Amino acid sequence: MSEGLLKRYGDYLPLTADTPMLSMGEGDTPLVESRRLGKQFGIGRLFFKLEGCNPSGSFKDRGMVVAVAKAMEAGHTTILCASTGNTSASAAAYGAAAGLETVVLVPAGQIAEGKLSQAVAYGARVIKIDGNFDAALNVARELADSYNISLVNSVNPHRIEGQKTAAFEIIETLGDAPDNLFIPVGNAGNITAYWKGFKEAESDERASRLPQMMGFQAEGSAPIVKGHPIADPQTIASAIRIGNPASWSSALVARDESGGSIDTVSDDEILEAYKLLARMEGIFCEPASAASVAGVIKCSRGGMDFSSSTIVCIITGNGLKDPSVALALASHPLEESSADAQIVAGIVGAQLKQ
Ligand code: F0G
Repeated sequence: MSEGLLKRYGDYLPLTADTPMLSMGEGDTPLVESRRLGKQFGIGRLFFKLEGCNPSGSFKDRGMVVAVAKAMEAGHTTILCASTGNTSASAAAYGAAAGLETVVLVPAGQIAEGKLSQAVAYGARVIKIDGNFDAALNVARELADSYNISLVNSVNPHRIEGQKTAAFEIIETLGDAPDNLFIPVGNAGNITAYWKGFKEAESDERASRLPQMMGFQAEGSAPIVKGHPIADPQTIASAIRIGNPASWSSALVARDESGGSIDTVSDDEILEAYKLLARMEGIFCEPASAASVAGVIKCSRGGMDFSSSTIVCIITGNGLKDPSVALALASHPLEESSADAQIVAGIVGAQLKQ
């Protein structure tokens, strides 16, 4: 039985004797070594941390288990979040497991169908906000200030505490921190959490070094890179369509203390990485997750020498979250046949004769 993060990393989390040991088997996700992409782009060792293997299909479950356990401990009966989709799916899942009411605010028409269907299936109240994610988060913060509910967005410090455990797992698997960590950046909670985790592990000598943090925003939603909020953020990677990240300043700290960078990748670069990951590695992620790999490819093409580097890319969410993008990018049209082996053989053609 998977023990979950509260048991496994309780010593590093803000637990008390009264914190319920909630678990849905989150964490302990695979760190898979690249078979082809690493070689193609001249990288010493390239790994993918498959956070889509968490119970609700994204990295959000790591922070959510801590935030929801603390909400239960505080005696709250309702949790609330704003979300581009994954936080709402995770909150709804853990809210259901904990027997709490879950209310989620999502930007109308801007979240992927898989994520919306999760929140609905888990029984959350879903309120579509006429505005973008940033507007929905403002509403959520205002409600949390006025009512006796737990806000479970990453502005809740318990979320960051839970999410930092992914850095611990990477160190345990590799034996030390990698040279570089490539990660998508939206509301900037995750890059903040990883940096906290790596620093804590280094300061109590579980790691001998710190990685450079390499964050990537989508070009049309890159407030941190541009240096100002974006009023109308755009990108195919709807999970990171965010114009005014809540953890902006701590993302800058992670970048600067680690000697890393936060840069942009275009939607075309994101989709190229998304296709390469699926077709060369067998890893199906959602578009936002591919921003980490798009970042590696961009740096490598730009002349950075990674030939003796160990690199980890965070694959933040499962591809099934956003199936419409996969279908739109199909490399051949879907074909049809009657139920007749001869006819199917004729359609498949040369590949059957090898
Ligand atoms: N990747 C995925 C799949 C995400 O869902 C998110 C954020 C990120 C990357 C970026 O992480 O916000 O910590 O910088 N999704 C949030 C949500 C905003 O509401 O689900 P971040």
